[in-house]
Amino acid sequence: MTRKEQIILPILHWYKKNKRDLPWRRTMRPYHILVSEVMLQQTQVDRVIIKYREFLRYFPSVKQLGNASPGEVITAWKGLGYNRRALYLQKTAQAIRQEYGGRFPQDIDTLMTLPGIGNYTARAILSFAFDKPVAMMDTNHRKFYSRIFFQENGQSDKILLEKTKDLVADLLTLPSLFSDKKSMVYHWNQALMDFGAHFLARGTHLQDCPIKQFDQLFPDQVKKQQKKAHTPFRQTNRYYRGRIVDALRSEKSITIKTIAKLCADIPKKRQQTIIQGLIKDGLIKQAGCSMLLP
Ligand code: ADE
Repeated sequence: MTRKEQIILPILHWYKKNKRDLPWRRTMRPYHILVSEVMLQQTQVDRVIIKYREFLRYFPSVKQLGNASPGEVITAWKGLGYNRRALYLQKTAQAIRQEYGGRFPQDIDTLMTLPGIGNYTARAILSFAFDKPVAMMDTNHRKFYSRIFFQENGQSDKILLEKTKDLVADLLTLPSLFSDKKSMVYHWNQALMDFGAHFLARGTHLQDCPIKQFDQLFPDQVKKQQKKAHTPFRQTNRYYRGRIVDALRSEKSITIKTIAKLCADIPKKRQQTIIQGLIKDGLIKQAGCSMLLP
């Protein structure tokens, strides 16, 4: 059997039946795709759905986002975490207007010069907004391609992306299974998201997997999931950074004393490092003995 019959078609048929109706799959506006992809980088789909709609109500276009104050953008980002992403998104919106006349570039290298846009996001924009025939490499795609092409994890993205070229060419020869005008490459890239979320993320539903050789492809999935040990979130700097920015979302300014109370469980020196880090990242600014959103 060919790869098309063994892997590509079963996954696309499974996706056609099971695909999630996600708001960013109903649009091809590059700004909307960018917002969704930046949000999805570190945040669960369910939470992103709500925040994506809310954020686009506040900032419906690159123009509105670019013209807002950084403080307004940080406030609208509440609940998503990794607040620096909000500032990058705003800087990218400004660059799109100032440097590209309001139109998104349509090649990977130029997209990657924009703040916060890496190889993955550039490819997501090309595929999901412009329907260009490119593969992409997020965590699930990477795991999937590593096993399909090499039967093991740990290959570099460069090698994996090189290998996806034939697969993309295969996809372009297939008649569409879908009723819209989007290419099979677009649907394949979306399908791997759902395939990953359903079969890879928790190592569940394996008996329903549309590819027969699933057991060989992902033999250690379940075991690995159980073994992972994490630093408890409340011990991380990210937790304290989030607490400080969150306090500033509801209070116009807070004193350094209040910040010290928010971080009372950790030593003074670490508190200082965290505050300096937030200032350096442009997420807060100092005014006398108080801190504000920028
Ligand atoms: N994660 C990143 N991009 C996604 C998408 N388009 N759909 C679902 N999950 C995603």
